[in-house]
Amino acid sequence: MRKLRFVFNLLILTAICILLPPIAARGGHSDYIQLGDRNSSFHGTGRSLFSQEERRPSLELARGYMTNDGLEKAMKDFTKRCSKISRLYSIGKSVNGFPLWVIEISDRPGEIEAEPAFKYIGNVHGDEPVGRELLLRLANWICDNYEKDPLAQMIVENVHLHIMPSLNPDGFSVRKRNNANNVDLNRDFPDQFFPINEDLSLRQPETRAIMTWLRDIRFTASATLHGGALVANFPWDGTEDKRKYYYACPDDETFRFLARIYSKSHRNMSLSNEFQEGITNGAGWYPIYGGMQDWNYIHGGCFELTLEISDNKWPKASELPTIWEYNRMSMLNLVASLVKTGVHGRIFSLDQGKPLPGLVVIKGINYTVKAHQAYADYHRLLAPGQKYEVTASSPGYKPKTTSVWLGENAVTADFILIPEASARGNLLRSICDCSYKNYNQPLLTHLFTETNNVITFMLIVVVAFLCFLLQRRVRFNLWKQRQSSRRSVTV
Ligand SMILES: *[C@@H]1O[C@H](CO)[C@@H](O)[C@H](O)[C@H]1NC(C)=O
Ligand SMILES: *[C@@H]1O[C@H](CO)[C@@H](O)[C@H](O)[C@H]1NC(C)=O
Ligand SMILES: *[C@@H]1O[C@H](CO)[C@@H](O)[C@H](O)[C@H]1NC(C)=O
Ligand SMILES: [Zn+2]
Repeated sequence: MRKLRFVFNLLILTAICILLPPIAARGGHSDYIQLGDRNSSFHGTGRSLFSQEERRPSLELARGYMTNDGLEKAMKDFTKRCSKISRLYSIGKSVNGFPLWVIEISDRPGEIEAEPAFKYIGNVHGDEPVGRELLLRLANWICDNYEKDPLAQMIVENVHLHIMPSLNPDGFSVRKRNNANNVDLNRDFPDQFFPINEDLSLRQPETRAIMTWLRDIRFTASATLHGGALVANFPWDGTEDKRKYYYACPDDETFRFLARIYSKSHRNMSLSNEFQEGITNGAGWYPIYGGMQDWNYIHGGCFELTLEISDNKWPKASELPTIWEYNRMSMLNLVASLVKTGVHGRIFSLDQGKPLPGLVVIKGINYTVKAHQAYADYHRLLAPGQKYEVTASSPGYKPKTTSVWLGENAVTADFILIPEASARGNLLRSICDCSYKNYNQPLLTHLFTETNNVITFMLIVVVAFLCFLLQRRVRFNLWKQRQSSRRSVTV
């Protein structure tokens, strides 16, 4: 069955490949044209199933860049040196078994807090190594400066920053774009328009690792670093009819705002002749399918940019310090935007004051942000200078809406939702729901029938006490949030 489907997919893919006009590949735009690849019909439709001639950067150029082992060692050394604010973990392995390492930077690395998380991914394409070098510099810079630089301090204290210098170590080791199975990882994600790629068993281990990662960690925003152009690219990356034109996603304004933060903080990205303000809509530049960016926004709840950080994909290593200086403020400002802008808050239930992992929607924007499962904190990035109507909802509760004027600074809006249930149902629920999940309900209901049981009474006392403790904590948290300098409302 699976085999049949594979053959079927292959046939469709081949048909599409032959019928479609060629499309250049994101992250290698200029180089591909230079290489005369424009006439090849094998590019840009998803997987590169066919072998292709690719001009590789010379071995000489790799001099001065970290090898995979060197990068691994540098990351381990970093988390040793900066153990107070970092940890090292791996989200899986490449085709050839190289660990996909991540550094997490935070004042409480590895802990879940009511804070937004950001991720940077470099080296998605093996022959675009600038990002992996810059990301290690970024980590070290934050570690060296978080006690004296306000921006670095803000990031360490209020964000969980996850840094993955290389998603494609196998491609890097042979200086090729694709992974060891010759698949372009930025075409390997499920696509909203052309689901030629829905078979999980055909998905690459690197892609799968990213998809699992986003189930485990709730990221608010992210960026991947590419090379071959100088521009901040935002969704959508593809159009429904495969033609090239500006195709806006529901959060177009927010994305333009985020992309501008990067390009304007960059030394010369916004001076581009080719891209106005140094930013571009993906589909308006050239459509791609199966990209990581759109998938993050649609399925990961994560606002992702694709950053092309140098015209030359593989510059001499001696140019890296300059490129780092050009990008440093951009990289920091983009992460800090998670704290400095947008609407943030938590959702609680009125009856027990417990956190409700509800949903947040902005009027006029067809996109839903989920509050975190544990603390019910939400982080809604939005373009500043406007009034927004924010609605929080959760099943079994009456939704609530509040108006927020979003100026230059972030706004806190906490929601306390009222249960829809009747007063009678409420009483029982308020006793039972105190446990994190509803597991206790059948047990308690059962115990209620044996009213003369002393144990029942004692249980209720214990549960009531726990309720009391929990509400105290919630009140404390609310109080703590109000202490922060942000303008805040509770509705
Ligand atoms: C592409 O093909 C056309 C006609 O088939 C040819 O004129 C052109 O030179 C080719 N371009 C490249 C870059 O190979
Ligand atoms: C930005 O600066 C780099 C390095 O000096 C240069 O190669 C590039 O052409 C510049 N780009 C723009 C858009 O000014
Ligand atoms: C909102 O987006 C969803 C997909 O996320 C789509 O199915 C739906 O039609 C959209 N609704 C409107 C009113 O555009
Ligand atoms: Zn790329």
